[in-house]
Amino acid sequence: MEISGKKAIVVGGASGFGKATAESLAQRGADVAILDRGESNGKDVASAIGGSFHEVDVTDFAGTESVLAAAVADLGALHVIVTTAGGGIGERTITKTGPHDLDSFRSCIDLNLIGTFNISRLAAWQMSQQEPVDDEAEERGVIINTASIAAFEGQIGQVAYTASKAAIAGMCLTMARDLGSLGIRVTAIAPSLFATGLTQGIPDEFAKALTKDAAFPKRLGKPQEYAKLALAIVENPMLNGQCIRLDAGQRFAPK
Ligand SMILES: NC(=O)c1ccc[n+]([C@@H]2O[C@H](COP(=O)([O-])OP(=O)(O)OC[C@H]3O[C@@H](n4cnc5c(N)ncnc54)[C@H](O)[C@@H]3O)[C@@H](O)[C@H]2O)c1
Repeated sequence: MEISGKKAIVVGGASGFGKATAESLAQRGADVAILDRGESNGKDVASAIGGSFHEVDVTDFAGTESVLAAAVADLGALHVIVTTAGGGIGERTITKTGPHDLDSFRSCIDLNLIGTFNISRLAAWQMSQQEPVDDEAEERGVIINTASIAAFEGQIGQVAYTASKAAIAGMCLTMARDLGSLGIRVTAIAPSLFATGLTQGIPDEFAKALTKDAAFPKRLGKPQEYAKLALAIVENPMLNGQCIRLDAGQRFAPK
């Protein structure tokens, strides 16, 4: 799908992967709406790229539906949606004092999995109601979600995060097949360690240790490198139904 002139929403677009992607989409001529938490600096990021900002908490599922509808009404249509809002917790399956807390497990699933699926299903419905953007290609839209390499090789203490991200990876093919006849593609990106929000401030020495098992380059990824892949997915109709690792060949040890 050609990016110029398309309507795009980036959920989590105030920081890290989302911010870099929103900026790159806008640079390439898309109209961009950023959805993020009220306390984020999404407003500033949006105004710097000539886009709009809509406050959302993706764990408020009904609220997200209204905010998304308002953002789409503002844009006039929806062709591309990128979801990056998410995060993790550190907790083992059991500890010395007892089993993994179920509430914390559920919160992580709510944020990463249900939040992502909620946005995906709503975006897909909106796209399905629009005409294809290009008669020949019959394409209506592209959905890009954010998993993690933890989906495939979660380290010790990441059971909730791994479960949530593996589900995001697993949904790609099913959703792509569900939506294929409508010309809507679904992919996910599974990054290794990138210098974004929290990880941005990691001291060099620690970053080196964390990326020592990468093939090349042995460094934290840059949010712009995520954005480059997101744009390539939008532009390349053959990328569909899969979760793409973006990891410099990194494999994790158990901890
Ligand atoms: N940075 C990494 O090394 C890394 C690696 C693999 C996967 N990821 C995944 O990438 C995604 C984005 O993270 P990032 O690294 O860009 O971090 P980030 O902290 O820079 O950005 C995340 C953005 O999501 C927003 N957000 C968080 N919870 C939200 C909520 N409930 N409602 C609305 N917005 C919310 C935040 O306000 C923030 O702007 C996450 O899903 C994370 O699990 C990150």
